[in-house]
Amino acid sequence: MPDLREYLESNRERHLDELVEFLRIPSVSAKSEHREDVARAAGWLAERMLEAGLRTAEVIPTAGHPVVLGEWRGARGAPTLLVYGHYDVQPAEPLDEWTSPPFEPAIRDGNLYARGSVDDKGQLYLHLKAVESHLAVRGSLPVNVVFLIEGEEEIGSAHLPEFLRAQRERLACDAVLISDTTMFAPGLPSITMGLRGLAYMEIRVRGARSDLHSGSYGGAVANPANALAEMIAKLKDADGRITIPGFYDSVRELTEAEREAMRALPFEEEEFRGEVGVASVEGERGFSTLERIWARPTLDVNGLLSGYTGEGAKTVLPGRAMAKVSMRLVPDQDHETIEKMFIEHIRSIAPPGVAVEVEALHGGQPWRADPTEPIFAAAARALERAFGRAPVFVREGGSIPIVQAFQQTLAAPVVLLGFGLPGENAHAPNEWFSLDNYARGAEAIAYLYDELTGG
Ligand code: BES
Ligand code: ZN
Repeated sequence: MPDLREYLESNRERHLDELVEFLRIPSVSAKSEHREDVARAAGWLAERMLEAGLRTAEVIPTAGHPVVLGEWRGARGAPTLLVYGHYDVQPAEPLDEWTSPPFEPAIRDGNLYARGSVDDKGQLYLHLKAVESHLAVRGSLPVNVVFLIEGEEEIGSAHLPEFLRAQRERLACDAVLISDTTMFAPGLPSITMGLRGLAYMEIRVRGARSDLHSGSYGGAVANPANALAEMIAKLKDADGRITIPGFYDSVRELTEAEREAMRALPFEEEEFRGEVGVASVEGERGFSTLERIWARPTLDVNGLLSGYTGEGAKTVLPGRAMAKVSMRLVPDQDHETIEKMFIEHIRSIAPPGVAVEVEALHGGQPWRADPTEPIFAAAARALERAFGRAPVFVREGGSIPIVQAFQQTLAAPVVLLGFGLPGENAHAPNEWFSLDNYARGAEAIAYLYDELTGG
């Protein structure tokens, strides 16, 4: 009888072909023109779940995009793992910056290039291959598994909390497993112990009834673009601190031990600068780059729109301006409280002569793991078996909005075992996933089932 590794190795080509097929479906959740594609990806995934050996697989409609729920509950008395992932992807724009088209997967240098390769289709799919390997090699799994794969993560998981509450009993589990994060460095497996939360805002500023001649009216009529820029500039001080009153009230400061653990990681600032293409790093005074990304809140403009931006010069006083602003949050900030503070603060600094509207578009709570949960030791052993190296414990600056809700609603620990890599271009042109990590990730997850049951 082959072992799990042999099985995964001898089926590597087929597993890759399947992933390529999955990646060809442009399941962009943010765009209504892709609604059918999103639905098609859900249906495709449910079929593959049954093929892998799950006993049930359902596409369950929500008020938004559907949830795919698959179950194998043949290990009576054994722990139940809930595997979460998302089959939706970010828009692929700007298309002309892709070396090969985003929905025509291509392999270069051992990496698979396509939108969604690492975030998150490839990473969720390796869990299904881990299940398949156990069922094919041994005919059963040592644990029960429930796959909960959603189609709205990239737009804030608006309908999932309600789904969790409604299906709370069916989704009861001993732990939630997620692969939607990155490893700290190539060959260095990582367990993510913290995520930032998010408050995503839109500011709309209106001035005159319409655009005006900037010579005839400029200087006498308020300019919404100027007003917006003024407000944005006031949101941070010279030390890079956010000026919204009360913003830092619930921020849990890092302990000296936590700062020490971060300093001990093999982080090269020069490499980091090279990766993103900047001459120097920037941020809140008094904190290192890793601290700024993992444990400090931020405020960033994500988009700006106003006036004339076409070729050449047009003298115009814009009638409107708009900005999208995100705040990444850290424990114990609450996204709803922060959203209210932001709205109030913007109103209080709005200059005269313009009308300002502020709206919260979506949000998510920050999250921290409880490192004393025994599953982290089992996960560390499984990673070490697959990668030949003990994992490091890290955090991420990004957000997975549903994670905190899992911990609260299901009262189960959440374990983030990610197999992406720095520079993977998630959300950007030329997103890629290391094929080696795809294979090792599947192996690690297959071992984890054994580690949890003493196998
Ligand atoms: N896979 C990411 C989360 C992530 C980001 C992990 C960065 C590791 C590093 C996830 O799909 C994502 O991008 N989430 C969004 C959530 C938002 C749209 C609510 C994010 O962080 O921007
Ligand atoms: Zn993701």
